[in-house]
Amino acid sequence: MNKKTVRDIDIKGKKVLVRCDFNVPYDENRKITDNRRIVAALPTIKYLIDNNCKVILCSHLGRPKGEVKPEFSLNIVAEELSKLLGKEVKLAKDVVGEDAKNLAANLKEGEVMLLENVRFEPGEEKNDENLSKEFASLAEIYVNDAFGTAHRAHSSTTGVASYLPAVSGFLIEKELNFLGTALENPERPFMAILGGKKVSDKIGVIKALLEKVDVLMIGGAMAYTFFKSMGYEVGNSICELDKLDLAKELMNDAKSKGVKFMLPVDTKVGKEFEPNTESKTVKFTEIPEGWEGFDIGEETIKLYSEELKKAKTVVWNGPLGLFEFDQFAIGTNSIAKILADVDAVKIIGGGDSAAAVEKAGLADKFTHISTGGGASLEFLEGKKLPGIEALQDK
Ligand code: 3PG
Repeated sequence: MNKKTVRDIDIKGKKVLVRCDFNVPYDENRKITDNRRIVAALPTIKYLIDNNCKVILCSHLGRPKGEVKPEFSLNIVAEELSKLLGKEVKLAKDVVGEDAKNLAANLKEGEVMLLENVRFEPGEEKNDENLSKEFASLAEIYVNDAFGTAHRAHSSTTGVASYLPAVSGFLIEKELNFLGTALENPERPFMAILGGKKVSDKIGVIKALLEKVDVLMIGGAMAYTFFKSMGYEVGNSICELDKLDLAKELMNDAKSKGVKFMLPVDTKVGKEFEPNTESKTVKFTEIPEGWEGFDIGEETIKLYSEELKKAKTVVWNGPLGLFEFDQFAIGTNSIAKILADVDAVKIIGGGDSAAAVEKAGLADKFTHISTGGGASLEFLEGKKLPGIEALQDK
């Protein structure tokens, strides 16, 4: 990585504003259901505490759209962080208002505070200059460690970096090292598994990966668009009729580049979009009318597994079926289990596939699980991430 990190500047005793991605899922009782993003921010926070910094953390949670909404308060994150750090993390009542400024001004060395949800400020998502300056006025140094939000050009991720010395934290450094090395210098065979609903969401990443990988395996609902483009019926399955030419083009691209482009051979179809709906497994080319495809079938699991056993680098983004419903989670879980035992560099590109691996209790069997869904996808597409571009070069 060619960006400076907290290691590259004199940070001792300084007041530091750290942008984290604490956008964690929580249930109807506001109980955090997955604290991975908070845990992933700890190395940078602990480093700053150990260097006697006065630590001001900030993040967004959800999409309150510039309004103060208590249901999006970061109080649940402050509580969880306090537990994880074993010391109190004070939560400001506002983002850059009186309370935040007072708390920041009175912060002592080694103390940690958290601003309220940055998206309570209408200027945040507009990358408003005044708000960026307000953020900057709170501290002497800006650290961005919010990899999951690095694809957003907002005040707290990008704007503020114009007004303070700006460097990255350890999480961004780690994410870029793993994702970057996998893409630039992969041990071969290099294979990618791409799932998810729509071809249109993944065009960029499919095109970019076709330049790099030896094998590309397709799963998830986007497989039905590929089959439809070859003239097969897909019943009630999700299918983007306006993307059929594109699907053909992508398959031709793969052929001309010598990339093995693998599509499922069978699919588990259901009658209704319901967890316990009647289901059966059919050949992909024989989806009956009135049925909807929700998962890859056993033959596909076998086929993909045999291929994956030969891999030396694997990047996986997107679940292979409707994994929220147990009976259609078999494809995603089976591939996760098989990959767990494959001796290769294995990287999960965040989002739903990360959740699936976590749910299956296999997280520690993977080389790296990205904390960024959208951000890792944009990185894999080869796009520049504004939150990282804004940081100082080494
Ligand atoms: C995410 O969860 O992908 C990030 O926190 C970004 O959130 P956003 O999509 O609301 O900008």
